[in-house]
Amino acid sequence: MSQTASDIRKAFLDFFAAREHRVVESGPLVPPNDPSLMFANAGMVQFKDLFTGKEARDYKRATSAQKCIRISGKHNDLEAVGPSPRHHTFFEMLGNFSFGDYFKEEAIVYAWEFLTGTLGLPKDRLVCTYFGGEDGIPADTEARDLWKKLTGFGDDRVIGLGKADNFWQAGDTGPCGPSSEIHIYQGGSGDIDFGSFGDEQTPEGVGWMELWNLVFMQYDRPSKDAELQPLPKPSIDTGAGLERLACVLQGKTNNYDIDLLRELVECAAEISGKPYGHTMAPDDVSMSVIADHSRLTAFLISEGILPDRDGRPYVLRRVMRRAIRHGHRLGIEQSFLHRVALKVAEL
Ligand code: SER
Repeated sequence: MSQTASDIRKAFLDFFAAREHRVVESGPLVPPNDPSLMFANAGMVQFKDLFTGKEARDYKRATSAQKCIRISGKHNDLEAVGPSPRHHTFFEMLGNFSFGDYFKEEAIVYAWEFLTGTLGLPKDRLVCTYFGGEDGIPADTEARDLWKKLTGFGDDRVIGLGKADNFWQAGDTGPCGPSSEIHIYQGGSGDIDFGSFGDEQTPEGVGWMELWNLVFMQYDRPSKDAELQPLPKPSIDTGAGLERLACVLQGKTNNYDIDLLRELVECAAEISGKPYGHTMAPDDVSMSVIADHSRLTAFLISEGILPDRDGRPYVLRRVMRRAIRHGHRLGIEQSFLHRVALKVAEL
């Protein structure tokens, strides 16, 4: 079933609202009072103090669609944007959160129900991962066993990975913990070879794509080199990329073909006077870069950041410059980025 990104966003928030989660608006891209981060890079950012117990609110479960930017600090995807069918500088992260309320079992069951029940994703294309242990932090065998019981999958589809993949924290400090991811095999034909798990998608979009990360927050790292401390109450932080879910549900293998991005790519194509060919040819990559970067530009300027020489304004300036460079590559001679950014506002 084809669904618009707005349908999917709503379905997600409704699913968790029906399970007693408070629907919370996205926090800003520029996190107030958080010097450890340049930009919000995950849904959990606006809830950090709830995980550590520093702050309490009148809810213990929340859900949100958070505006995220990942081009600085610990999570930096800038150079992948354009050549990759699934990376963005700006994207929306759908998340559900438990602040000392439910933990691993419910989080895993909710995610599975939403993906395979509500959205109807094909189970035969999915694998789940868990933290296999590293650096003296033990393997998360509890998550492994929960996945196996729920899905009936064997070791080839419930896979243990190390810290780089399955241990999550937003920055160098703060709440963190082992995670489990759900991945889908995109494109291709014939039976899926689960032994190929880990092979990134080809430029044409065939291969494995992470859909959702479930973080089991059970530690806090108070300072950069400090030992992990147990959190007072284990909590849940999950994040699923809206653009990736839309890609799967709209039957595409490239995020730039989904409703949210497609019109921006078309806008870049129209301005350049060249057709968009849905390939990884240099012109198509340039149009994708402009589509992606115009979103970051519009959303950051809407929060009062203007391009300049250092800090956040410099990040914006670099991204705008990269988009404009790709415009020149396409042969666009007049100023154009404002036109694509206005399309973002319209969408
Ligand atoms: N914080 C985790 C992530 O960003 C899960 O939301 O991947």
